[in-house]
Amino acid sequence: MRVVSGIQSSGKLHLGNYLGAIAQHIEMQEKNECFFFIANYHSLTTIQDPKLHIQLTRDVALDYLALGLDPEKAALFRQTDIPEVTELAWILSTVTGKGLLERATSYKDKVAKNISPSMGLFCYPILMAADILIYRGDVVPVGKDQVQHIEMTQDIANYFNQTFACDILKRPEPKLGVAPLVPGVDGQKMSKSYGNTISLFDPPSKMRKRIMSIKTDSTPVESPKDPEQCNVFAIYKLLATEDKVADLAKQYRAGGLGYGDAKKALFEAVEGQLGPAREKREQLEQDADYVEDVLRTSANRARSVAHEVMSEVRTACGLATIRD
Ligand code: ADP
Ligand code: TRP
Repeated sequence: MRVVSGIQSSGKLHLGNYLGAIAQHIEMQEKNECFFFIANYHSLTTIQDPKLHIQLTRDVALDYLALGLDPEKAALFRQTDIPEVTELAWILSTVTGKGLLERATSYKDKVAKNISPSMGLFCYPILMAADILIYRGDVVPVGKDQVQHIEMTQDIANYFNQTFACDILKRPEPKLGVAPLVPGVDGQKMSKSYGNTISLFDPPSKMRKRIMSIKTDSTPVESPKDPEQCNVFAIYKLLATEDKVADLAKQYRAGGLGYGDAKKALFEAVEGQLGPAREKREQLEQDADYVEDVLRTSANRARSVAHEVMSEVRTACGLATIRD
């Protein structure tokens, strides 16, 4: 199976990104042909400071490698190293109705939050469709918030194939992992744009403080509590072993467990998973050449697929070019 997914370099990656998307990506590298990219054309819709953008792009690469992406098994590259993607996005925009984009909930949410929309933000799902269709991806592992975009990709592939009477673009399927919607410290969906994240690689003291700031209700320590109503437990159960989850749930129900204790247990579970990756990340940070080399080698692999698909797409549309 061919697996394709991307993550924007629009801020520090967080537990939602890891549990919702990256953990699946890393698992899938074992048995599939994987194309994972840093969606830096997409993040240009929010990051317009060039130095910061370079840094954030590199940070995403470091995060993936530290978390276990093996470049021998999966390609990890920058979206901008595959310029064919923007060419395909243009072509797809000519077969996509404006109404489809107007129905995108993530676009509507941003507008509702008073973000003044650029054409890039409005057309974001078309670029995302190009990202997937250009590698003929079978499966796209993402969090729940991205499913509508994958469904739009399915529609866009159909529009293209119908318009040009061909079967070139493959319809991809979204794939959700075990944590499709991780809550943030305020209980809403954890997201870079809501300021409610727990970053993956903050120093332990900062991570601990952040976990301690998770919103809980005012039930007194001695009272029994429903773990299913608690943000701390909601994250804990995505990270800890089954036995530990059952044990903490029992303590909630029995009473006598303060939220501070539950948060401490969560911090330990997070550290248990991310502590070793933090150390690996520190080592990788010293080796900028290695990281750049991974990105370039992977991009070459991805680009050869993109080149082939684009050539078929141009022929189907009657777009002659000296590049074919
Ligand atoms: P953000 O919303 O923080 O900007 P991205 O849009 O860059 O995050 O998301 C990258 C990947 O992580 C996507 O597959 C997305 O669905 C997933 N993801 C983001 N936030 C969460 C979350 N809170 N729970 C589960 N998955 C998430
Ligand atoms: N829009 C995705 C997000 O914000 C990132 C992304 C860009 C993506 N292109 C993609 C995800 C292609 C999956 C496939 O999370």
